[in-house]
Amino acid sequence: MTERTRTSSGFFVTQEAPIHADDPVATPTAAPPDIVRAAYAELVVTDLARSREFYVDVLGMTVTEEDENAVYLRTLEEFIHHNLVIRKGPVAALAALSYRVRTPGDLDRAVEFYTELGCRVERRAEGFTKGIGDSVRVVDPLGFPYEFFYDTEHVERLAWRYDLYSPGALVRLDHFNQVTPDVPRAVKHYQDLGFRVTEDIQDEAGTTYAAWMRRKPTVHDTATTGGDGPRLHHVAFATHEKHNILAICDKLGALRLSDHIERGPGRHGVSNAFYLYLRDPDGHRIEIYTQDYYTGDPDNPVVTWDVHDNQRRDWWGTPVVPSWYTDASLVLDLDGNPQPVVSRTDSSELEVTIGADGFSYTRDPGDEDLPDWKKGEYKLGHQL
Ligand SMILES: [Fe+2]
Repeated sequence: MTERTRTSSGFFVTQEAPIHADDPVATPTAAPPDIVRAAYAELVVTDLARSREFYVDVLGMTVTEEDENAVYLRTLEEFIHHNLVIRKGPVAALAALSYRVRTPGDLDRAVEFYTELGCRVERRAEGFTKGIGDSVRVVDPLGFPYEFFYDTEHVERLAWRYDLYSPGALVRLDHFNQVTPDVPRAVKHYQDLGFRVTEDIQDEAGTTYAAWMRRKPTVHDTATTGGDGPRLHHVAFATHEKHNILAICDKLGALRLSDHIERGPGRHGVSNAFYLYLRDPDGHRIEIYTQDYYTGDPDNPVVTWDVHDNQRRDWWGTPVVPSWYTDASLVLDLDGNPQPVVSRTDSSELEVTIGADGFSYTRDPGDEDLPDWKKGEYKLGHQL
């Protein structure tokens, strides 16, 4: 067992990620592509006009380009063509999670890496979307549609255009979050792809419920959440400050659109970031996220949370709504067909955090400190 130290904040730190895969994906002999960062997501939506309204009129994203089939969107500090594509289609789903790589040669490395793994690989010199050149799309060994690109169109840098900022301005794409049945298998594969684990959630038996992994020096570029998958849990965009997130809540209230708010606002335990989860018109989950921490030092330790720590998902102890655990978007293969969803067999975080008496308290069942008046609050379906 990896040596771990309990900190005064209640989580543990270790030097190496304490996650071990029983059923790992083979490690290719080919070197992985050098990923710089999570760059954009392509979401299929069923009503393009309605989704455009949500992302542009409500969330304030900038339209770089659009046609009758797709809208190419960016936030104020994104300097390339887009960091979100919404494309019209018959089934709401994720079409691609796209990563920028360091050099054009990394595309050759992506082709070799995934070909060796026996994955479907497609390379298009003209790109799969507008604004992006030569790129590679694959269905990765976990069933997710991943894209890699270097060539892209740079657009006007709007970060200095404070006349365009709204109180809830989104500034960057921060990360993706993927639902997968076997978290350790996913972590091992993404470590082979060059990701480093920054945080995870485990129980006393070592069952891993979720893990956060990074390329850029923040808490993550992607995370894996244990559940039936492959599915997309969410795409997260950053604001500068936490008051920007409160402004988004106020705006949704004022527009009588509060049904788009699923969870939050709040402060995460994991990542220490301030957060809000929204659902778009198709139910795709979008997180608004700000103020996590720097992870770029070579010996940045891994933070491990106990699944029974009721502050891991929300630092203030606010209960997590069940839909946040159960709902997620389908993901597509390279032909645009939804990937079959495989059930998780390890225990679920939702279930282990509900006591046998039906209370969804997230503490160790032996914890005597939970006041009686709190218990009702945690009962599923008990809130008015
Ligand atoms: Fe997130």
